[in-house]
Amino acid sequence: MRDFISSKMSTIGLSGIRKVNEKALAMEREGKTVIHFEIGRPDFDTPEYIKKAAKESLDRGEVFYTSNLGDMGLRKQIAEKLNKENHIPYTAENILVAVGLSEAVFDALMTILDPGDEILVPDPVWMNYVNVPKLLGAVPVPYLLKEENDYQMDLDEIRSKITDKTKALVMVTPNNPTGSVLSRETLEGLAKIAVEKDILVFADEVYERLLYHGAEHVSIASLPGMVDRTFTLNGFSKAYSMTGWRLGYIAAPAEFIKEINKLHQNAVTCAPSFVQKAGIAALRDEKDEVREMVKEYERRRDYIVKTIEEIPGLSSADPKGAFYLFINCREICAKSGMNSQQLAEYLLDKYGIALVAGTVFGDSGEGYMRMSFANSYENIVEGCRRLREAAVELMK
Ligand SMILES: Cc1ncc(COP(=O)(O)O)c(C=O)c1O
Repeated sequence: MRDFISSKMSTIGLSGIRKVNEKALAMEREGKTVIHFEIGRPDFDTPEYIKKAAKESLDRGEVFYTSNLGDMGLRKQIAEKLNKENHIPYTAENILVAVGLSEAVFDALMTILDPGDEILVPDPVWMNYVNVPKLLGAVPVPYLLKEENDYQMDLDEIRSKITDKTKALVMVTPNNPTGSVLSRETLEGLAKIAVEKDILVFADEVYERLLYHGAEHVSIASLPGMVDRTFTLNGFSKAYSMTGWRLGYIAAPAEFIKEINKLHQNAVTCAPSFVQKAGIAALRDEKDEVREMVKEYERRRDYIVKTIEEIPGLSSADPKGAFYLFINCREICAKSGMNSQQLAEYLLDKYGIALVAGTVFGDSGEGYMRMSFANSYENIVEGCRRLREAAVELMK
């Protein structure tokens, strides 16, 4: 038989996070206990008021296609939220509702990138921002987020990497995998560069509600000159613990939304109707539900930060948002002769702790492992106990 697979497919691989997860699940099937620090999925149930809205929508018979762009009620609700919370002066015509933020990212990048175009992408990063440009024949150009800079972008580096081919820059704040939050100062500097160099900014704000100890989230679209050149990418997965519902959105200038919609229409037609109704309720009727979840994440975060500092050979910058710790394991790697991928495998095989090697998020992740604290406090305590045992052994 001929080789039927498109040449594009050889440009990308499967998610390294899923690989760890599949191995961990296989170990559990063999009767081993594994502590899951690998998956970036909230461990809470979706708040009851949101489920109720979906059930009521189904009972009303709202089981048909909606407008491709999304339910008008939801688009208006999202625009209201963006005005009130993010200070972005958008109306419903600036919103496209997608099947999760993942679809939104795919559509938005495909609408903008031609083969050969360059797009600046953080390193480390959630890998869709590298894989999708590659699939499109575009060039993801990494810019470094370094622990010693508190994972803020280096604006001189950004400037130096912009060429005639650069169309856009991706930023993720709060960040996966580092848990950092970009400061207002950094974003103001970036905004100036974007305007001067005439590039677009893709701002992934899916973790915006998960902030700790008073950290501030700033939407770059709210800064001078940016509303016309920013794609604000967000969704319901993380804040409302709705990963399985698949609901996300793009907020952008209306002329871009019209183009993105052509793609979205061909790919998925629309997001599920009753899920969109649940999205309206999520935004409109929220009381303390998200705050309660964030309080619990913060309790876990504080425990892990304190514990990691006491474990020999490990350290970490303080995460200010999301639910990740990017653990610096360089000392253990140096002492044991393992790289971070080998160390992560060793910890899973020998101690039943599932962590993701930093290199899964880009080359700069060597010497780091991502730990998600979207797991129960009890499991986290047990996982940290095992991690300490392993580290003490490896640092002997
Ligand atoms: C930075 C970032 N953006 C987007 C997503 C995907 O969100 P969704 O579940 O809405 O597709 C994730 C999921 O892990 C993420 O970490």
